[in-house]
Amino acid sequence: MNSDQLRTRPKITVVGAGQVGSTVAQLLAYNNLGNITIIDIVEGLPQGKALDLQESGCLQVFDSLITGTNDYKDTADSDIVVITAGLPRKPGQSRDDLVAINAKIVKSVTEQIMEHSKNPIIIVVSNPLDAMVYMAKKVSGLPKHRILGMAGVLDSARLRTFVSLELNCSLVDVDAMVLGGHGDSMVPLPRYTTVSGISITELMTEEQIERVVDRTRKGGAEIVQLLKTGSAFMAPGASVVRMIDSILRNKRRMLPCTAYLEGEYGWKDIFFGVPVKLCSTGIESIVELKLTDSEMAALNKSAEDVQNTCKQVDAILAS
Ligand code: LAC
Repeated sequence: MNSDQLRTRPKITVVGAGQVGSTVAQLLAYNNLGNITIIDIVEGLPQGKALDLQESGCLQVFDSLITGTNDYKDTADSDIVVITAGLPRKPGQSRDDLVAINAKIVKSVTEQIMEHSKNPIIIVVSNPLDAMVYMAKKVSGLPKHRILGMAGVLDSARLRTFVSLELNCSLVDVDAMVLGGHGDSMVPLPRYTTVSGISITELMTEEQIERVVDRTRKGGAEIVQLLKTGSAFMAPGASVVRMIDSILRNKRRMLPCTAYLEGEYGWKDIFFGVPVKLCSTGIESIVELKLTDSEMAALNKSAEDVQNTCKQVDAILAS
């Protein structure tokens, strides 16, 4: 493979060389999804991680180019940009406690990305997630199908894990759907959580369901408590890469993602998690489920929480 052939691969920029950014870059490379640029403000960090990852290529058998940089010029013409920049939670903090600091970081990152890439697909991972995607949309002006957030894939992966542990059955047969904001009021949907097509409402008691739902809602905090510094990164990294795999390989997978709504589920000018179909141009369509009254009430509560956090983003944008 000569360098011209390598250049024709998709270009994926990962903003932030911390735990999540590094894991995303590593899994992108292992999955041969494209050439990867890692950017961070800390001098040497992205360069060191990029070189280390590149040197694993002959062992892991990938030949993508991996570049580390502190200069946004090197992100030029990215096809996909993953924004992981910002502070993670400390034990006891909620994701919303990060809004003031991370909103400014995400604003500045998005401005710099858009200076050098005309029409990227942006996937935001920074917290508080739904408000950070909202910030990135307002700043980038990208069409709604090209900007989305990663949360539902992660929250559903957690629910899938807890269901398999509770039922002592293989993970691979478990599927799940979690809607709403990526916060304490997220909406795991037991009716749409299945083991080999059988809803868990038929396989588990109400008490068991409540247990896995509650653990899912608190899944991020459980990891923060255990790690003491930093938050989860392996499952978040894998979740981002599943989304990128569906986009770059045009798989049209149906995954819960944080999407911009214009009337779907009764909400407008807001991002939260809904099932979408992901194809090469980003979000191909949003799937509107017929929710029960109590599911809809839970989704409305979650959306109100997101909306309250977005008010702080609006204030930063107006200042
Ligand atoms: C979590 C962070 C990434 O849920 O929000 O672990």
